[in-house]
Amino acid sequence: MKLLFVCLGNICRSPLAEGVFNHLAALAGRSGEFVADSAGTGAWHLGEAADPRSRKVAQDHGFRLTHRARQVRPSDFTDFDLILAMDNDNLAHLQNLASRYPATAEIRLLRDFDPDPGDRQVPDPYYGGPEGFENVLEMCRRSCSVLLETFSKKP
Ligand code: 4NP
Repeated sequence: MKLLFVCLGNICRSPLAEGVFNHLAALAGRSGEFVADSAGTGAWHLGEAADPRSRKVAQDHGFRLTHRARQVRPSDFTDFDLILAMDNDNLAHLQNLASRYPATAEIRLLRDFDPDPGDRQVPDPYYGGPEGFENVLEMCRRSCSVLLETFSKKP
């Protein structure tokens, strides 16, 4: 199962979602069942490492972010099974792209899988303090835990 996490810049939210998903899959012994990647709808940060605040919060929770920012590309819509948008803007952008290219991937909001979904958005923490990054990680952790449970091979 191939999952792509998508935000705007691919330096704050979606690398954290990718990282926490991989971390949870490894803890569950299910890394072999999944490929997780992340991308941005925008192109401002191509090739950059994740924001230091995302890397810090990941490290505080026991995993490392090694992803380099990339932009969503047309082949993503056939390469991935499930594309998970962080907010409604990302979702609209992805749906617009998917309507213009061949697309087989399902496109959803990440927090459709959050047991405590709130307004279903993962808020952009870029202009805020470190607590915003903790909040993002917690939303991603809850959602990714359900994703993993939902799509793990049943015994
Ligand atoms: P992200 O956060 O979409 O979670 O990676 C952002 C990072 C950079 C910018 C906006 C949001 N930016 O405007 O550069």
